[in-house]
Amino acid sequence: MKKVRIGIIGMGRIGKIHYDNLKNKVENTEVVSFSDPFFKESLEIPNLEVEALVSCKEVDAVIICSPTNTHADYISLCAKHKKDVFCEKPHDLSLPRVIESLQEVKAAGIKLMLGFNRRFDPNFLKIKKLVMDGKIGEPFLIKITSRDPAPPSLSYLKSSGGMFLDMTIHDFDMARYIMGKEVTEVYAVGGAFVSEDVISANDIDIATVTLKFEDNTMALIDNSRKAVYGYDQRLEVFGSGGMAKAENNNHDTHTLYNEIGAHSSLPLDFFMDRYTSSYLNEIKSFINSIVLGTNVSVTGEDGFQALKIGIAAGISIRENRPVKINEINQLQSIL
Ligand SMILES: NC(=O)c1ccc[n+]([C@@H]2O[C@H](COP(=O)([O-])OP(=O)(O)OC[C@H]3O[C@@H](n4cnc5c(N)ncnc54)[C@H](O)[C@@H]3O)[C@@H](O)[C@H]2O)c1
Repeated sequence: MKKVRIGIIGMGRIGKIHYDNLKNKVENTEVVSFSDPFFKESLEIPNLEVEALVSCKEVDAVIICSPTNTHADYISLCAKHKKDVFCEKPHDLSLPRVIESLQEVKAAGIKLMLGFNRRFDPNFLKIKKLVMDGKIGEPFLIKITSRDPAPPSLSYLKSSGGMFLDMTIHDFDMARYIMGKEVTEVYAVGGAFVSEDVISANDIDIATVTLKFEDNTMALIDNSRKAVYGYDQRLEVFGSGGMAKAENNNHDTHTLYNEIGAHSSLPLDFFMDRYTSSYLNEIKSFINSIVLGTNVSVTGEDGFQALKIGIAAGISIRENRPVKINEINQLQSIL
């Protein structure tokens, strides 16, 4: 079988994860080039200008892992050169650019998959299946805790689009995915408590977000950019017939009991180790969609819906009120 030849744009934290998986762990695939103007190490493959990489005849598909504010432009470039594309979340920060690039993707007939890797996490997949199989009856409420161990660098924060579009966007997607419903209203509360850099970037670092779904059921998300005990990733769905929850993945499962208490391991350190299998599963899913000619499992529409929820959450904080997704739809129609 002919290998899918891949070009990767951006070889930072997440670019390296996809590179390693595609190079060493995914069948029918070859990484042939990458593009990163600031990458100084040498890899076995050439570092090309972005346009040279995307237009290259030896590249069948592109993985976009550059800073968020470049994503829509690079997706447009992939559409222009008819290359299938996997793009890291979020699609972009600019709603008009997202709409435009989605239209270009459709017109070009290329595949676009968004990097919502948590959908491929074995724990959360189990919860999704339990909910879908009716094991907790009618689901009323999903609660998601998502706290990073430490904030990213100031330069990352400045191009990230803020906590809701950079970090909580995973949780917005997870809430939609697990509940299988669309969000209609968002109410967010938050502030900057744990990081001077976050204050410099004019962002927030701790927040709660309440989502209302189309049938009035709910999601409650709590986020922090810093948790001194590690990467805190938990999820719970409460329904008429019970409750399903996924706890943290810890370094190990031991517990030491002694005269001052019971002590066990901390959660895993960060996304690179906590979500290892999800990154592998999602990129395999993208490659399979190309090899088998099937639809991608996380679509541009999924990215668009999560982005709109994030934009609504930002307005909610600024204006101290619940924001309907319809307001964003109306905003979209005048853009
Ligand atoms: N799915 C996830 O769990 C996850 C995790 C981390 C980051 N991300 C997303 O991936 C993207 C990158 O994040 P990161 O943490 O890897 O950031 P990073 O800062 O570690 O890496 C970004 C890389 O892009 C390079 N770069 C900068 N400008 C570029 C350009 N114009 N063209 C090509 N390369 C360029 C930089 O040199 C750097 O190596 C962001 O959009 C982020 O939201 C997703």
